[in-house]
Amino acid sequence: MKVYNIGLIGAGFMAKAHSIAYAGMPMFFHPAPAKGYKKTIADLTQERANDAALQFGFEKGTCNWKDIINDPDIQVVDICTPNDSHAEIAIAAAEAGKHIICEKPIARTLGEAKAMYEAIKKAGVINMLAFNYRVTPAVQLAKKYIDEGALGQILDFRGTYLQDWSADPNSPLSWRFQKKVCGSGAFGDIATHVVDMLRFLVGDFDEVNARLATYIDERPVQSGSVDKLGTIKDAGGSPREKVDVDDQCCFMIKCANGAFGTIEATRNAWGRNNYITFEIHGTKGSVFFNYERRDELQVCFADDPGDRRGFRTVYTGPAHPYGEGLWPIPALGIGYTETKIVEMYRFMKAIAENTPVSPSFEDGYKIELIGEAVFESAQSGAWTKVGKI
Ligand code: NAI
Repeated sequence: MKVYNIGLIGAGFMAKAHSIAYAGMPMFFHPAPAKGYKKTIADLTQERANDAALQFGFEKGTCNWKDIINDPDIQVVDICTPNDSHAEIAIAAAEAGKHIICEKPIARTLGEAKAMYEAIKKAGVINMLAFNYRVTPAVQLAKKYIDEGALGQILDFRGTYLQDWSADPNSPLSWRFQKKVCGSGAFGDIATHVVDMLRFLVGDFDEVNARLATYIDERPVQSGSVDKLGTIKDAGGSPREKVDVDDQCCFMIKCANGAFGTIEATRNAWGRNNYITFEIHGTKGSVFFNYERRDELQVCFADDPGDRRGFRTVYTGPAHPYGEGLWPIPALGIGYTETKIVEMYRFMKAIAENTPVSPSFEDGYKIELIGEAVFESAQSGAWTKVGKI
């Protein structure tokens, strides 16, 4: 089996998810197309990097991510840092001929996304953007129904990503609330996942009409570089600084194929945790997915007998996309880890077979073009065309 040495940069939440995926993937997908060997992990201090190496099973830690780029023995660079360093690291990795998996959103700005896209095209390296939710078997099943024509022509759709971890004003000003680090708030952090799923399921977005809002315009200053996602709150008395990104983002969408949709995203919706949903209506039927019940896809078909027509639940299992590699019976429980394992399987397979994989940097760049249109529309109040590559 081919083994690729991994250099992972940024030892926080996503480093944990990716590290588990490197270890677990060959156990689920056997024989694996290739294996990742956890060679070096980087963070901002040597102490944190060493501790992360111990925690996540890497051979060694470094406080300088360039050590990974300069190591000829590393074939894969895995970018798990906040959004402000994605472009610099990805461009350096591409120039060094490394394959790249990068966390979403691709970058802070359209300019950075374009430069990253051009760098991977020039270098010809395998590149993947970590929009893992789309590989959930129930989402893949929805895609299968759509591709087989079971829903007929897609008329409209609605997508949401609702959370509440930042609804408390004492939740600190982490990097996710500082435009210079994250680029945007609810749009880049969470709406992009739903945009990725709905582009994958329905097709390219052509025009958008958006509204953005910031409800909590200052937050307590946070110490440390890791975002604890609202789990550590200020007890009072810390200095507060300005939030310069969106808390909430809502937009209408006209797709190139005529379908009409809406997407809503907020991290301030009390009672919602990881409420990623989509409902898609076609001329022959509908599907509904809620990530909080991610084993399930709800389906309804127009040609069901009238006295029993209605949404019914399909539990995903070995009969469904990627299910064969996961667990032997339906409803045992697909988790966040499983989505990252499927993502890693697809990435390793692409490298081993030298074939492109999606979602790619191209998808990330196209989503950034949608973001530009969303932000322009929120300013002008008008329908705004999405730019093209
Ligand atoms: P985090 O705040 O948990 O960890 C980030 C880590 O990167 C910290 O340890 C920090 O010290 C380190 N870091 C910052 N700059 C660095 C640099 N220049 N060199 C080395 N290390 C550096 O962040 P989290 O939640 O892991 O987010 C990382 C990325 O993953 C972001 O782009 C985020 O949008 C994305 N993400 C994706 C998710 C998904 O579901 N696909 C979920 C959560 C985050």
